[in-house]
Amino acid sequence: MIEQVTAPRAERTIDIATVRAATPGCAEVVHFNNAGASLPPRAVTDTVLAYTAREALIGGYEAQEAAAAELASSYEALAQLLGTRARQIALIENATRAWDMAFYGVPLARGDRILTCRSEYASNYLAYLQVSRRSGVRIEVIPDDADGALDPAAAARLLDRDVKLISITHVPTNGGLVNPAAAIGALARSAGCYYLLDACQSVGQMPIDVEAIGCDFLSSTGRKFLRAPRGTGFLYVSERALAEIEPPFIDGRAATWTAPERFEFRRDARRFENWEFNCATRLGLGVAARYAREIGLEAIWQRVQLLAERLRARLAQIPGVQVCDQGRIRCAIVSFVCRSIAPEVIKTSLARQRINVSVSDAAWTRIDMDARALPALVRASVHYYNTEEEVDTVCAAVAALCRVAAPG
Ligand SMILES: Cc1ncc(COP(=O)(O)O)c(C=O)c1O
Repeated sequence: MIEQVTAPRAERTIDIATVRAATPGCAEVVHFNNAGASLPPRAVTDTVLAYTAREALIGGYEAQEAAAAELASSYEALAQLLGTRARQIALIENATRAWDMAFYGVPLARGDRILTCRSEYASNYLAYLQVSRRSGVRIEVIPDDADGALDPAAAARLLDRDVKLISITHVPTNGGLVNPAAAIGALARSAGCYYLLDACQSVGQMPIDVEAIGCDFLSSTGRKFLRAPRGTGFLYVSERALAEIEPPFIDGRAATWTAPERFEFRRDARRFENWEFNCATRLGLGVAARYAREIGLEAIWQRVQLLAERLRARLAQIPGVQVCDQGRIRCAIVSFVCRSIAPEVIKTSLARQRINVSVSDAAWTRIDMDARALPALVRASVHYYNTEEEVDTVCAAVAALCRVAAPG
């Protein structure tokens, strides 16, 4: 579990040369946009390409039938990654739709309250606003602690019987903060409300145990720290939520039309899925989940923290650069601004040197960014396959840009 400042020692270390050799993109770019989409290992890409070729040769449905066991093992791999059972995993085309299937399924009525966090992701907050406008549900933002992370004590003070849902982001899109997901889980359990965790930026970079967190739903993506193909996402559903929550819309995958006027839901989490899906990327997702477990989530977590801390420390030494990360526990995402250069200019200037970073605009985390008067920031996100030398290369490139923009 992540809610400790010092992570336990990794049981194994990562052979960086081997993982880089297995990642073709490492030879092409300095990739510090892992929070956008990380470079997949060759095993993932090969799986997707081989399956796609097979579909073209024997037919889509026929290829799916032939790969039934491998497709089933993608659920198993994700379940093991999250500390749950395959029946509690739904595979959905992206993290937002996975999140939507949970959120819009929770019954909410006028007067009910939703508690969320200050660093909540835009698409989630937009959904709260829509539901609030439609039905009079109230949205309340849990205050942060002195370090800028969600404050469980403040959350406890807000809890009452009207709170029907706590819905927060584990690692925000715009910085290195890790919110205390398990402490919030304990509160949600004691209050009896539903708990939805957006773990889009945390799965794949740190150990996640849904039982220890105590959430009813956890949504995430494949393409970020899990190194799976784009267009993959998934939803964990607790047994309680499986018993109580209906998907907001359904199809022939979610339910069976048993008589002209009757239907029956599936009993497992796949009732939150679509009938049609991309088999190739789903297989790639399973390979990526197994790959991450083979490397070891504890080892990955230690390695990304090490690299990110090195990056923060070196960036902070560059005149004109301000590192913006908050929280006591910080992850692989490093955010910063430069006094004299716009984030977008930094991104495009670094891209010319084959260095990938991204820009996070205020509109993606409006409440947090407005409170800190940040219109945008640069997001440099590392993964375990990055190297200390790459960190130094990126810092040297940023320092050179700052010198040109503000000489002397
Ligand atoms: C915190 C967070 N939640 C959700 C998402 C949305 O994920 P997806 O694009 O897979 O729907 C993102 C994407 O960056 C994110 O950072």
